[in-house]
Amino acid sequence: MCCKQFVILLSLLSTAISKEARFENVEINGYDLSKLVYSKKIEKAFSLTENLPKNYVDKLVISGNIPVLHEGALNLKELDELVMENCKIREIQPGAINVGEMRKLSLNRNLITEIKPHVFSNLSLFVLDLSKNNINKIDSNAFNDMSNLMTLNLGWNNIDRIDSNWFRGAPELTHFTMHHNSIQEVPDKVFHYLAENRNSKQISTSLGIVLDHNKIKTVHPGAFKGLKEIEMVWLHDNLLQGLDENTWESIHLRQLTLGNNNITCFEGDLDKILSADKISVEPNPFDCACLEKLMGWSKQSKKSIDLFYADNECKLKDIRRRIDNLNKAFDNY
Ligand SMILES: *[C@@H]1O[C@H](CO)[C@@H](O)[C@H](O)[C@H]1NC(C)=O
Ligand SMILES: *[C@@H]1O[C@H](CO)[C@@H](O)[C@H](O)[C@H]1NC(C)=O
Repeated sequence: MCCKQFVILLSLLSTAISKEARFENVEINGYDLSKLVYSKKIEKAFSLTENLPKNYVDKLVISGNIPVLHEGALNLKELDELVMENCKIREIQPGAINVGEMRKLSLNRNLITEIKPHVFSNLSLFVLDLSKNNINKIDSNAFNDMSNLMTLNLGWNNIDRIDSNWFRGAPELTHFTMHHNSIQEVPDKVFHYLAENRNSKQISTSLGIVLDHNKIKTVHPGAFKGLKEIEMVWLHDNLLQGLDENTWESIHLRQLTLGNNNITCFEGDLDKILSADKISVEPNPFDCACLEKLMGWSKQSKKSIDLFYADNECKLKDIRRRIDNLNKAFDNY
């Protein structure tokens, strides 16, 4: 054999050897209209590409141990939905996900800690589920230009901030879910890209913002500024002591939840603070004098708010006080 050919052979051999297995004990199931049409178990493979179904499937469920999604790992065209749940994924490299016209991607219940720049940028997804990972860092440019994105689920992670840039170029977003994280603040104008997009494209679909079970102490008065219609803002199970009266200025909010916070009294114009069509505020450690004011407002404005427990609590306190006074009176007798 001539030396040149030998060198080529050697280099071919060495690339083959250096290609370590990236997928181990992986199972791939393909569905067409919910019917299982493809199933394959792989012990070891460098790439998934040659193991994917050749015929059309609309949904692919991949399970097994896949610690890293390397660049180019998932080149999937003509797929509607990809499910990779509970695969112990720790890392997604930029360029790993290349999914043509795919509408739904679920990576829930993995071990992802960080979302790197442009991992999801420009994808055609309608639904992206990253819930129940260990995410504590999301790059400012992780999600932008997702022009079809309607649902972004980041629930049950360890994220401590919301970044307005995530929403750049995502005009269709209707469900932003970030419950069960460690957010402490809803910053000023954090949804301004959504607002601008929706106003300029006259998108009227409802927007739901789900932020319950965080550590929110502050909602900036201009946090939702620019949005005209909001379907719901869930803020229950946080550490709020109140809301600024200008928070909902020029916004039609349909539903607001504030239960399980640290609110003793609302300071400011109740018509503005509680302008939402439907409000729930229980439970909160309401001050009894303030509660009376709140109930008076509710009657007068014909707006029902749930104050049953707080009211009972205050009535009980009143009874206890009277009994104490009676006891004292007897003691002095
Ligand atoms: C997304 O697409 C736009 C328009 O095609 C392009 O300008 C932009 O650079 C793309 N972003 C990324 C991160 O690929
Ligand atoms: C609840 O509010 C009170 C003031 O009304 C404050 O002293 C306390 O630290 C707050 N608790 C928490 C857990 O933030």
